[in-house]
Amino acid sequence: MEPVITPYGRFYNQDCVTGARAHLASGSVDLIVTDPPYGIDGDRLHRHYNRDETCVVGGYVEVPAGAYGEFSLDWILEAERVLRPGGSIYIVSGYTNLYHILHALRQTSLREVNHIIWKYNFGVYTRKKYISSHYHILFYEKPGGRRTFNLECRYGANEASDDGGSLNYRDREDVWAINRHYKPGMVKNKNELPTALLGRMIQYSSDEGDLVCDLFLGGCSTARTAIGLNRRTVGFEVSETIFAKRAPALAEITPGDLLASLRQPVIDPLRNQGKRWSRADLERLERRYAELRDGGKTRKASIAVLQQEFGRGRWSLERALKRTGDGR
Ligand SMILES: C[S@@+](CC[C@H](N)C(=O)[O-])C[C@H]1O[C@@H](n2cnc3c(N)ncnc32)[C@H](O)[C@@H]1O
Repeated sequence: MEPVITPYGRFYNQDCVTGARAHLASGSVDLIVTDPPYGIDGDRLHRHYNRDETCVVGGYVEVPAGAYGEFSLDWILEAERVLRPGGSIYIVSGYTNLYHILHALRQTSLREVNHIIWKYNFGVYTRKKYISSHYHILFYEKPGGRRTFNLECRYGANEASDDGGSLNYRDREDVWAINRHYKPGMVKNKNELPTALLGRMIQYSSDEGDLVCDLFLGGCSTARTAIGLNRRTVGFEVSETIFAKRAPALAEITPGDLLASLRQPVIDPLRNQGKRWSRADLERLERRYAELRDGGKTRKASIAVLQQEFGRGRWSLERALKRTGDGR
């Protein structure tokens, strides 16, 4: 099928390795969030939580278990190539073939940042053993550049819960309890990921305007969330049936439509006042200022945004911008 191309996204009905080689330059992607086929009996994947099978889009392309190791290495090497130095990758995986993914990752330069457990509802019901209700999320980085991690994108560092605990700390623990969408009667993909899960990865590990890639689009939930958070996106889905049913709707989304629903963190506006500017901070300032100006913001409006992001006063930012040489 023809690709879906919009001003904020490019989506291809192609195998992701061939597609990435054809359409993605080396070092061009800021963040990859992806959920490869699990190499198990794909046709049974959804049985346990989407019981109405008539609503599940068919055409899911599975990988034979015996080929999973080679398949994983192929796409992970491609992911390593397209990521920028300092770029991040999140891979969602079940347990069965996790070792193949870990083995492939160890054959690249990618470095582990966290191993996250996603605890979900609708686990497979069992009588003689415990109920499996989690997936693994491997969070890795490509060395050689500054990794984006927006520490206070969801909770300010000093925000406390009613019992006095730190909300920021809790949000960054590596076990995430997030329910899957329960969409009775609505069209869905097998194993569609919830917006809350995807949003958390995208908010922490990318900025507005960054390029977010999903190598296995499926129901396009990663792409939808990324566009909703005002990121640029690119993605691949090999199944023509799934692509035809799900990808065209991406052209209907208004970029940034999720931003208004986000929780606003309470951040001490002058938390970094008086601290020395590091070289990494100055580089980030230069990059973010250019992004805001290129996005159409005035100098004054850009500085107001940067005051929040950097926790410094206006004059400190003015002086730092002079040092970076961006006088716009
Ligand atoms: C686990 S699903 C992704 C689900 C997706 N995260 C969502 O929320 O809907 C994996 C998808 O990868 C697709 N796929 C399998 N092999 C592929 C390949 N080589 N290149 C691109 N897509 C592939 C499958 O058809 C399936 O739709």
